[in-house]
Amino acid sequence: MTQILSVVSECAPLIKTGGLADVAGALPAALKAHGDHMRVLLPGYRAIMGKLPKTKAVDTYRDLFGGKATLRAAEAHGLDLLILDAPHLYDREGGIYGDAAGHDWPDNPERFAALSYIGALIAKDGAGGWTPDIVHGHDWQAGLTPEYLHGWGVQTPFVFTIHNIAFHGNTGADRLHSLRLDASRFNADHFEFWGQISALKAALAGADRITTVSQTYARELLTPEFGIGMDGILRARKADLTGIVNGIDTDLWNPETDPEITPYKAPAGKASNKRALQKTFGLGKSDGPLCVLVSRLTEQKGIDLLLQALPALLDNGGQLALLGSGAPHLEVALAEAAERHPNLAVKIGYDEALSHQLIAGGDAILVPSRFEPCGLTQLYGLRYGTLPLVALTGGLADTVINASPAALTAGAATGVQFHPVTAQALSDAFTTLCALYADAPTWKKMQRNAMKQPVGWDTSAAEYHAIYTDLTT
Ligand code: ADP
Ligand code: GLC
Repeated sequence: MTQILSVVSECAPLIKTGGLADVAGALPAALKAHGDHMRVLLPGYRAIMGKLPKTKAVDTYRDLFGGKATLRAAEAHGLDLLILDAPHLYDREGGIYGDAAGHDWPDNPERFAALSYIGALIAKDGAGGWTPDIVHGHDWQAGLTPEYLHGWGVQTPFVFTIHNIAFHGNTGADRLHSLRLDASRFNADHFEFWGQISALKAALAGADRITTVSQTYARELLTPEFGIGMDGILRARKADLTGIVNGIDTDLWNPETDPEITPYKAPAGKASNKRALQKTFGLGKSDGPLCVLVSRLTEQKGIDLLLQALPALLDNGGQLALLGSGAPHLEVALAEAAERHPNLAVKIGYDEALSHQLIAGGDAILVPSRFEPCGLTQLYGLRYGTLPLVALTGGLADTVINASPAALTAGAATGVQFHPVTAQALSDAFTTLCALYADAPTWKKMQRNAMKQPVGWDTSAAEYHAIYTDLTT
């Protein structure tokens, strides 16, 4: 049984801002089926500490980047957790990455260096008698782990997963000392990136294996357009880079048992959920498809393109119900557009229950992202017979089968993809979607195909297991 320490900054259902949490929360159970045991090292944010039933102190640190800290073992939601309880770093009001106004915490470099440092220290000294065979870090917040491992001469293999290359975790070289980094390694071969310390670069340079969350994104990352400055080092490490598509929790996202909706087995069961959703969002009846979108509202997610392309949906009798939060200018633009269009309804906020109702009640789910390493909501859509309309990029390219004439003839189509990622191409995709929706037998067939797609973790967990096995035997 391989013992793996997952080092990660969020983990569902305890603490979540995006898909990273879902993946971190689902992997341990998925790996168990392959005989692997994964423990999750998480920062002891204020929001977490209050939710944990019982913890057991397994280690204490007198000075962890400016204050006392305790490592606590806990079990919750079937997860075997190690919580880094460091009040000076994590016990504060506001978000996990920034304050209520959306500004990053100024000590984020120390907050996540501390997480990485303890991840490496557990590999070196163990935690309450348990020592991992592998350390698996996620995104820049775990990026410095291999630097600390190297500094102490610890040979434990380090696997690194890129969930989103857009976040580098860069900070000024003046922090070399406070982050306890080896100044002699502040160069292009290790963690220096254009004169700054880069936690992401440290991981890309120092990991034994690198994975990312879809095969297409793994290829895209090698190009300047998607690699965002890291494409050079990734090309150099191409032999160690693998794309492994995310799964979803098929118990939590199961239309037959979902407690937030009127459960259904077949597409016809969606009708009552659609009516309920229209009511919740104050939308009337309409002849066209009811589209839904659940997302962080950022540049990545193509919300500005959506706003431009919307007439092609709304003028064809279609509707859109949207749930999201994020960039204030996008929130305002969406709210203003909703004032003007009776068939557009927007709720700003974060709401798990409502996200289930949207996925169940929608006819189609939109993911018009400029880039999307994997994306999870299109997978929810497939499982709920809510056809994805997605940009042809990253994991969206790998998980949806476009309704091309060939795919329709073969009866394989599960959604609509558009390319290039422009407002014009999205407008055209809306026209295609409306035409498909008007062709009821074809639409039903696509829904049934969608609901049959394997979107769980089985295959992907086996791929992670193979990497761990490779590194330990
Ligand atoms: P990303 O991680 O880039 O945000 P993903 O599609 O991988 O994108 O994952 C987003 C996750 O967060 C999904 O589980 C989605 O349902 C959830 N989510 C995003 N915004 C909201 C919201 N406003 N309310 C509820 N859930 C949300
Ligand atoms: C990131 C990506 C998203 C992916 C998620 C989980 O947040 O933006 O595409 O699904 O990580 O891997």
